[in-house]
Order: sequence, then structure tokens, then C-alpha cells
Amino acid sequence: MKVLVTGGCGYIGSATARWLRSKGVDVQVIDNLSEGHRQAWDGPLEILDLLDRDLLHTYLKGKSFDGVVHFAARCYVGESVEQPERYWRSNVVPVIHLTEALQGVPFVFSSTCATYGEPQAEYLQEDHPQFPVNPYGATKLAAERLLLDRSAAGHGTCGLLRYFNAAGAAPGGDFGEHHDPETHLIPLAIDAALGERPPMTIFGTDYPTPDGTCIRDYIHVDDLAAAHEKALDCLITGGDSGYWNLGTGNGFSVRQIMDAVGHAVGQPVPFKEGPRRVGDPAILVANSAKAKAELGWVPHYTDVNELVATAVAWHRAHPSGYAS
Ligand code: UFG
Repeated sequence: MKVLVTGGCGYIGSATARWLRSKGVDVQVIDNLSEGHRQAWDGPLEILDLLDRDLLHTYLKGKSFDGVVHFAARCYVGESVEQPERYWRSNVVPVIHLTEALQGVPFVFSSTCATYGEPQAEYLQEDHPQFPVNPYGATKLAAERLLLDRSAAGHGTCGLLRYFNAAGAAPGGDFGEHHDPETHLIPLAIDAALGERPPMTIFGTDYPTPDGTCIRDYIHVDDLAAAHEKALDCLITGGDSGYWNLGTGNGFSVRQIMDAVGHAVGQPVPFKEGPRRVGDPAILVANSAKAKAELGWVPHYTDVNELVATAVAWHRAHPSGYAS
């Protein structure tokens, strides 16, 4: 089986590329290395910008893939609010270029719970209304719609995977999360606990949650990788298009995550309390029953301490992240 993985040098993309390769899949990665890291993927790599339609189509001409998994995108909610044009271009145009060139090829898409917007239920199901509250979620939803339209036209099935909070690192500490700038809770808390950054700021302590801080569903990056394999298998063996939430179904507050980080590092996370961050819903927790039932996907990392420990192991082995 030959699969094209775009953004395969990024955090979730490289975890999935490595996971698929470990299952015997012939993986070809495309990445422009704008956010990804060369060290995150040591297999076949084409350095190419998906926004360059001619270059992409020339590259794909005459090549054949059993499936495509598309990660390449911009993924910062705050940045998307400040630079919406950039997000619409980066997150939608490559999907157009890829689908034009890959008629009939099953397409697994990296989507997000941010497509739902403000939650109207404690556990989000796939039939929750989709009213994104930021451009990031809106662009991901637009790409979802394009892929569903393509599927309805008979031009190729799609699997839309709506991640909750991707976290953790490869067991062993060889690969992990490296964003520049880093904005995510777990790596920032680790840095603060180790004294490598100033105390972290808790964004909001007046949410309607038991300890006043936001609750999220942290899903390990290798569990996400496994879900992509399942979705690919489903589509390639003739399964219908679908959309699936990927989370553990367990919510943890910011303070609970800080406790888990403090425990794993061996010293508490220094912090200060700050105002809410724009665009943060109080609680985002998945109901992933659909993925379990339809894809046979079961997350392995349901213990948040175990998940956080993998992130700490990666950080200790690579305090500055990847070399590039
Ligand atoms: N947080 C802090 N302080 C920080 C950083 C984060 O209190 O310094 C809080 C946030 O307010 C939030 C929680 O920690 O409540 C998690 O924040 P992250 O930035 O780690 O993750 P997000 O929930 O903002 O974003 C993630 C993905 C997005 C995706 C979103 C869906 O990074 O791509 O989940 O909700 F869209």
C-alpha cells in the first residue's frame, strides 16, 4: 500500500508517517518544512509547497497512491484570528489542489473539534452543530465540506478526523512536539517546571468548571496516528466516507495538567493567573464512540500521567526540540 502524507514532518503528521511505515505502508511525505522538521521523518520526502499548484500537479503526474493523509496546515487559533486570509489560503487551497490531482483517491483529513465552536453539550458528538468561533475552525470546516462534496460527486471517499487536544511524544523520547513559538499547555508547563521559561500563565480561572480553569481532552499523538491507519484501512477497503471525533472522553483542567507535569518532572510548575484567552471554550471533551464502533479505534493512553510522562521524556532528551 502506498500512501501520500502531506505535512509529514510536522508533529502529528510525522507520528502518523512513522506509524504507517511501522505497519508496512510505503509512505511518501510532502512538506515545505515551514513548520515541520527534517529530523522528524527519515523516509522519502519531497520538499514542496502545496500552494504551488503547477509544481504539485507536475510532481503527482504519473504517480499512484492508494490513499492520501493531509496534515499540512496552519493550526494556531490565536494567529488565525489575527491573520484570517493566511489561514483561508493555507488551510483550504491545498485541499483543492490535492483533490484536483488525486481524483478517486481516498482522502483522510486532519480536522479538529474547533469546527464545532462553542459546545452545547458536555461531551461532543459528531452530530453537534458546527459553528466555528475562529478562522482556524472555519477553514477546517470549509475543507471538510469540500471533501464531502467531492465524495458525493463520486470523486473519492474521505475520512474527516476531528482531533481534540493532541499531546504527548513517542515513547522513548525520540520524537515529539516542537512548535516555534510554542503556545501549547503541556510543553509550556514542562519548560516552566524545569526553569527554562518564566512561570506559565493560566489563561482564566473564572470558568464554570470545578477549579475555574478550562477543561480539555488530551489525546496522545500515537493514538491519533493509529486512528489515521484505521480510517485509511476503512476507506481503501471500500468503506463509506465518514467523520470521527478523536479524544479519550476524559477531560482535564489546566490545573490538573499542571499537577501531572509537576509530578512527572519532580517539581511543581510555577505559574501566575491571567485573564481568559480569546476563543477558549470552557470545556471540550469528546464522545468518540463513533470512531470506536465504526473504525475499531481504541485510544491506548487514557492515563493522563502516562501521556504527560512521554512529553517530559521527549523534552529531557531534546531540551531544544529538533535541531532544525
Ligand atoms: N493554556 C493556559 N496557559 C498557556 C497555554 C494554554 O492556560 O500558556 C490553556 C488554554 O487556555 C486552554 C488549555 O490550556 O484552556 C489548552 O491550550 P492549548 O493551547 O494547549 O490547546 P488549545 O485547546 O488552545 O488548542 C488545541 C489545538 C488546536 C485546536 C484546539 C481545539 O492546538 O489546534 O485544541 O480546541 F484547534
